Amino acid sequence: MNFDLLVYNIGQLILPRFTGNALKGEEMKQLAVRESAAFGVNDGKVAWIGSSTEAEGYNAKLKLDAEGKVVSPGLVDPHTHLVFGGSREHELALKQEGVPYLEILARGGGILSTVEATKNAALQDLVEKASFHLERMVSHGVTTMEAKSGYGLERETELKQLSVIHKLNEKYPISVVSTFLGPHAIPPAYKGKENEFLLEMLDVLEEIKEKKLADFADIFCETGVFTIDQSRVFLQKAKEKGFGLKIHADEIDPLGGAELASSLGAASADHLVAASDEGIRMLSESDTVAVLLPGTTFYLGKDQYARARKMIDEGAAVALATDFNPGSCVTENLQFIMSLAALKLKMTTEEIWNAVTVNAACAIGRGKEAGTLDVGRQADFVIWDVPNYKYIPYHYGVNHAKRVFVSGEMIWERIPFGEFQLSGAR
Ligand code: NIG
Ligand code: FE
Repeated sequence: MNFDLLVYNIGQLILPRFTGNALKGEEMKQLAVRESAAFGVNDGKVAWIGSSTEAEGYNAKLKLDAEGKVVSPGLVDPHTHLVFGGSREHELALKQEGVPYLEILARGGGILSTVEATKNAALQDLVEKASFHLERMVSHGVTTMEAKSGYGLERETELKQLSVIHKLNEKYPISVVSTFLGPHAIPPAYKGKENEFLLEMLDVLEEIKEKKLADFADIFCETGVFTIDQSRVFLQKAKEKGFGLKIHADEIDPLGGAELASSLGAASADHLVAASDEGIRMLSESDTVAVLLPGTTFYLGKDQYARARKMIDEGAAVALATDFNPGSCVTENLQFIMSLAALKLKMTTEEIWNAVTVNAACAIGRGKEAGTLDVGRQADFVIWDVPNYKYIPYHYGVNHAKRVFVSGEMIWERIPFGEFQLSGAR
């Protein structure tokens, strides 16, 4: 056989299974790990998977020695607020004083301060800022991600954010799935007129549909933000317009977001820290993926994490994401989230790998394209500088990625120590 690229001498090749839907409950415990493996790539797609010994007999334009390291599919980050202006480091002191997240928002800070900064930023500046964060995500092994609007709360800025996401897809070979989160907070001028605001957001959504600027619609259903009834009406209308559904659900208070997401057939319900027993039961009986964001719980300094064990044990599909944003989770590092999932959510290593690959892809409607390495699939993968697949959640807070590939092309590589070059230095 002849390949464009042949990757051989892989210590462990991680092969999450795609069954047509996200893996649920017990299925999440299964993870195929092939030792001494190799695979071939032609035209950007996986053309063959086998043993490293077999690979010795095959030809390729480029042969890449994985040096006995771990190779996995590119990671998928299914919940990020990638596009925003400014930053909120001044809120750290408020957090230390114990001011709650929703209180900062109620005082006009939090999301609302990022809304101001995003309104004032030029499109090109937002592209550059988002690129900086996106590249850092990629350097940590992510090759598909989701990104939301939601720092505009009005037509022009929401469309500007979605245009930034569109431009990122043109600029980079990775996929950025786009979500409209117009109802992310109540603009001060609409206090008491939330329904009017939601109607306006639905008009914007109509325009987004025409311009094909988003695949999903999302809403922040929370005390002091949008009620469960308002969320139901908004999501129902978004569904009628043909959008996939997501919901910031039961993050702080158990308002019934998990129940709503499952009953509407949402692609995902996200956060779920306070999800009720009934909500978890309904999730496990639906195809809605529970997207858990332990980085946010950590960053908000909460003791209670989402009940991942109960969700998986009852048969739900769980995915993990960074929730990268300037207020409640300021990290691009999905590997750190994998460590939190092990330590705080008590997920097994196998469940964690499935949660950041195949299930994360399903949560953003990309199960057929991303999150697994099968013959015929796009060759998006990561070479990890670790001795085995259990090592990543264990050794936390650092970057273990060595090389990142999309469609068989290397898009990022860690520079080995001592090989730095200062271009233009005299
Ligand atoms: O998912 N919870 C609501 N929205 C974001 C936070 C956005 C922000 O604080 O800027 C989240 O945590
Ligand atoms: Fe979020």
